[in-house]
Amino acid sequence: MEYSVYAGTAVTLAKQGGEIIRARFGGSFTSGYKSCPSDLVTEVDRKVEDLIVKGLRANFPEHAILSEENGHYSEEISREGYTWHVDPLDGTTNFVYGIPFCSVSIALAYNGHVITGVVYDPFRRECFSSTRGGRTLMNGRPIRVDRARKTLGESLLVTGYPSNKAYNQRLLRVNYHHLLEHCANLRALGSAALELAYVACGRLTGFWEDPLMPWDVAAGSLLVKEAGGRVTDIDGNNFHLDRNLSIAATNGLVHDELLAALRLE
Ligand code: IPD
Ligand code: CA
Ligand code: CA
Repeated sequence: MEYSVYAGTAVTLAKQGGEIIRARFGGSFTSGYKSCPSDLVTEVDRKVEDLIVKGLRANFPEHAILSEENGHYSEEISREGYTWHVDPLDGTTNFVYGIPFCSVSIALAYNGHVITGVVYDPFRRECFSSTRGGRTLMNGRPIRVDRARKTLGESLLVTGYPSNKAYNQRLLRVNYHHLLEHCANLRALGSAALELAYVACGRLTGFWEDPLMPWDVAAGSLLVKEAGGRVTDIDGNNFHLDRNLSIAATNGLVHDELLAALRLE
């Protein structure tokens, strides 16, 4: 089957899910938490996930689906055959606090390699999509990573902090003081998928986070690669869709400098 069929279905479902997020934003919804009180989930996350999972099952009954809210993750499933990675609402904390920076993220991987990725921002109605070996598009137009910034000192970077406090220790690997001395500035916008889309279109020069789950970054990692950027883990190894992965994604030009800055004790 053509990659474009997968991308087309993912775009349609991401937009439908995104319209639910838009419609419910700022209204009332039930919410609770998962691993700890800061790891939020709402009825909207679940409603959007149901819609996307039903749509994928109807179109591709033979494919596996790993989605954030259904409660299980399998590395085996992630690595074999066709597997969809679905984050129905990336940026739940922003959504709950009324900050309009969230996204829907849908990716299809084949034998662990992402072949289609879609990230949809329902507030700006920006749809970022990519197919392996193709281009990255925003609302149908080709986009590229930032080619203007060639050094870390010129780069506007972005990162994120884990919702699950159990992983806060991993933040200590990074010397934030050193990093802030050596980049233009640093953001934490609260949706890893959309932050990667922003690297893909050159609004930001580089992103890293540790740890994340595959559904957070599967789509965004392809957006960055096919837009001319570079994606590795934060130690510079090949990027894999593993549980609690780390990721560094840049315009390519500042990648080694970012990795070196992240490594500094
Ligand atoms: C979160 C967002 C956030 C990142 C967290 C993720 P969620 O996903 O991507 O930017 O910093 O680590 O858990 O919970 O909103 O889907
Ligand atoms: Ca997420
Ligand atoms: Ca989510």
